[in-house]
Amino acid sequence: MSVRGTDGDGGSGTGRTGIYLLAVGLVIMLAGLLFGYDQGVISGALGGIQKSFSVGTLLLEVITSWVTLGAMAGALVAGGLADRIGRRLTIVAAALLFVAGALVESFAPGAYVLVAGRLLVGFGVGVASVAAPLYASEMAPTRLRGRMVSLYQLAITIGIFVAYFADYLLINGDRWRVMLGVSAIPGVLLVVAVVPLPDSPRWYVKAGRHDAARATLVKVEPGVNIDREMADIEETNRKESAGSWPEVFAARWRRPLVIGVSLAVLQQLTGINAVIYYADKIFAAAGFSSPAGQSLATLFAIGLVNVVATFIAVAYVDRFGRKPLLLIGSVGMGVSLVVVGAMFEVLGSSSHPAGSGTSASGVVTLIALVVFIASFAFSLGPVVWTIINEIYPSHMRGKGVAVATAANWFAAWLVSQFFLSLVGLISEAGTFWLFAGFCAVTYIFVSRAVPETKGMSLEEVEELWTGPGAVPRPPS
Ligand code: BGC
Repeated sequence: MSVRGTDGDGGSGTGRTGIYLLAVGLVIMLAGLLFGYDQGVISGALGGIQKSFSVGTLLLEVITSWVTLGAMAGALVAGGLADRIGRRLTIVAAALLFVAGALVESFAPGAYVLVAGRLLVGFGVGVASVAAPLYASEMAPTRLRGRMVSLYQLAITIGIFVAYFADYLLINGDRWRVMLGVSAIPGVLLVVAVVPLPDSPRWYVKAGRHDAARATLVKVEPGVNIDREMADIEETNRKESAGSWPEVFAARWRRPLVIGVSLAVLQQLTGINAVIYYADKIFAAAGFSSPAGQSLATLFAIGLVNVVATFIAVAYVDRFGRKPLLLIGSVGMGVSLVVVGAMFEVLGSSSHPAGSGTSASGVVTLIALVVFIASFAFSLGPVVWTIINEIYPSHMRGKGVAVATAANWFAAWLVSQFFLSLVGLISEAGTFWLFAGFCAVTYIFVSRAVPETKGMSLEEVEELWTGPGAVPRPPS
């Protein structure tokens, strides 16, 4: 079994290989931008939408959250589609759906058409959130695989930052149509970027197109032993014919399934999107009285820190490994959430009146949130997606990634839908401590159940579950 990717590029191929890898990087970046922009933009658009259509709270919530439901459906469909028509065409379809949805949103004459546009956009984002990282992880040489998928996360964070910035610039007046409409641009660019590229070698082999697989391997990794690489891929594909849905849930693949779905869900249950969506509100409660102050704190303390800390993961995920980053990150997140909760207790019990300026506990809350976002951004944010895209065996990777991604969207929907009710029920402090509890669960789960996959080829990862050296199952 070969470990793909020596550092050699094979001389003459270097330049073209660089261009291919750049193009694959561009595809993953654009897909992430779509995802992130969509996550971040709605908070700033809601006010204008409410004024234009005078909608009630329920419809407003639907307009906000149905993107996540659309994305969940998209993620489920994407797996089968990516296995059937290929990763590349699936990305094209996702981008076209996204562009159509963004235009429907932007020109919506009424609230219900807007909801239809939101669903369509969500569906496109969901399909892309499965197909693009899958494509990148199958195209990248082993030594770059973790970094490619981390690039996706980096792009998500840049998308969120750009959306916060657009919200900040366009907040006055009825400019929500522009906020939502501009997201069609990265969608069009994604189509333009992916159309000239080949599909992944693994998908070509699955589809019986061996010449195309060889040609692609030569292009993306000229230094590699093509025959051995093809034999590896073919052997993996021969072992199983087609990965049916029952196969995805079969007992022998339970470990990768449990690891992927648990990490996807835990990533959300640690409260990341509650902070992303409700940052302004949290800062308001912490004593940042003016909307401009809140939105600046959100833009920089959340948006920018998220981008910057993600760079750490992009640089180190293949050097430090997945587990150390996840473990350190969940400790940082848990501790900072405990502090945020404690500060809300202090704020709640003090007589600090709203609007009287930022208190000491408000500043501590800000610092703790920066630590929280930074800890997420170099660990659970990118590394969870890296692991999800490498732990499933190739014959069912598309469907496996789809299940985990859909679980991630579902958990994101749960948290964003019920965060405010939870605060009403058990207070801010209780809610943040609950999220902290899930950080502890994540720490324990990662240290006991997740194997280190740094530096392994996808075939070697598969052997973890089935090969002679299979990692023993933890006692059930
Ligand atoms: C999560 C998103 C989250 C983003 C924040 C991603 O890894 O899946 O739900 O909004 O990180 O940067």
